[in-house]
Amino acid sequence: KKVVLAYSGGLDTSVIAKWLKEEYQCEVVTFTADLGQGEEVEPARAKAEALGIKEIYIDDLREEFARDFIFPMLRANTIYEGEYLLGTSIARPLIAKRLIEIANETGAQAIAHGATGKGNDQVRFELGAYALKPDVRVIAPWREWDLNSREKLMAYCQSHDIPVENKAGKKSPYSMDANLLHISYEGDLLEDPWTEPEEDMWLWSVSPENAPDEPTYITISFKQGDPVAIDGVEKSPATIMEELNKIAGANGIGRADIVENRYVGMKARGCYETPAGTVLLRAHRAIESITLDREAGHLKDELMPRYAKLIYNGYWWSPERKMLQAAIDDTQTMVNGDVRLKLYKGNVIVVGRQSDDTLFCEMTATFEDDDGAYDHGEAEGFIKLKALRLRTAAKKGRSLL
Ligand code: ARG
Ligand code: SIN
Repeated sequence: KKVVLAYSGGLDTSVIAKWLKEEYQCEVVTFTADLGQGEEVEPARAKAEALGIKEIYIDDLREEFARDFIFPMLRANTIYEGEYLLGTSIARPLIAKRLIEIANETGAQAIAHGATGKGNDQVRFELGAYALKPDVRVIAPWREWDLNSREKLMAYCQSHDIPVENKAGKKSPYSMDANLLHISYEGDLLEDPWTEPEEDMWLWSVSPENAPDEPTYITISFKQGDPVAIDGVEKSPATIMEELNKIAGANGIGRADIVENRYVGMKARGCYETPAGTVLLRAHRAIESITLDREAGHLKDELMPRYAKLIYNGYWWSPERKMLQAAIDDTQTMVNGDVRLKLYKGNVIVVGRQSDDTLFCEMTATFEDDDGAYDHGEAEGFIKLKALRLRTAAKKGRSLL
């Protein structure tokens, strides 16, 4: 019997590895992914070996994550509940996919993860896993064991020889998750939605008041709705995310402090830093503003909250996501060109946009002499017809006051 465990190398998932062996008498295969969390993943190998793990998978998934998950999501200008850029939500389907691939490669019938029974992540991992391997067995230790406090966890480590690194008490008190798109903070002080987070919680950005007094100008180029270059230099998807995170974070961009509705039903307070995502969202909207047809754009905007919700709720691997993605992607073929931005003290200010595929027509839009490009007489008839039903009702005495 074998189980593939999503293993971070941290304390919780190390305990899970031991617990699985003991409780289920099974072989544990560990899988650790580099999704751009900014921490080395190689140390997870030695840690897994120390736990007696024989099959250890460590994958650099940064490019795949940016190219096949973050960028497709950005094409829809996706935001959950008006504020959350879905940094954690979008990483889970990739981890689920890889867990299942590894299960198939190693002949494992089960997967395990370290998400709690209260959150969204359990749903995302498991819906993904079931969608890709319908008969997979899922083990979620947090829903089964009674190690529900730090003390009990520590006691378990002691009795099972699990090394607890103590970097002089430097461990953050928050529940965190980081990847190329964001870093998240939940729990501890944040559990009171009235309490402002301490400045030293934020790891990726300076506060707007400490940001430089000089703005930073950048140009982002798009091809078919995806960012492909910064200041004219083409870069890989993951590199674009990494560089923009630095530039934007240094200008105090991308912080959010929100209370969101979890799929399981509760409201939860979370803080997020999404520097690159915040810049890309503005830039993508700006390039769409000159290249997208009005009605296609508006329809896309109407679909977006549905699309955001299904990603948040864990339905990336679903027929409805595939269907929406096809519609969204179809609108992006002409979304090409450059956007110029000014980054300044927490603000992303669009200052220019240009495209060979622009639908913006200076001749039609001008306030100056348009040389007959636009027939004013047509506007008169257009308005008269639009007013027909309003006038009919008014003549019948129907009041709108
Ligand atoms: N609340 C966010 C979400 O549901 C972030 C979850 C963070 N997950 C974590 N394991 N720390 O997407
Ligand atoms: C967890 O509960 O494991 C993290 C938070 C979440 O999944 O929403």
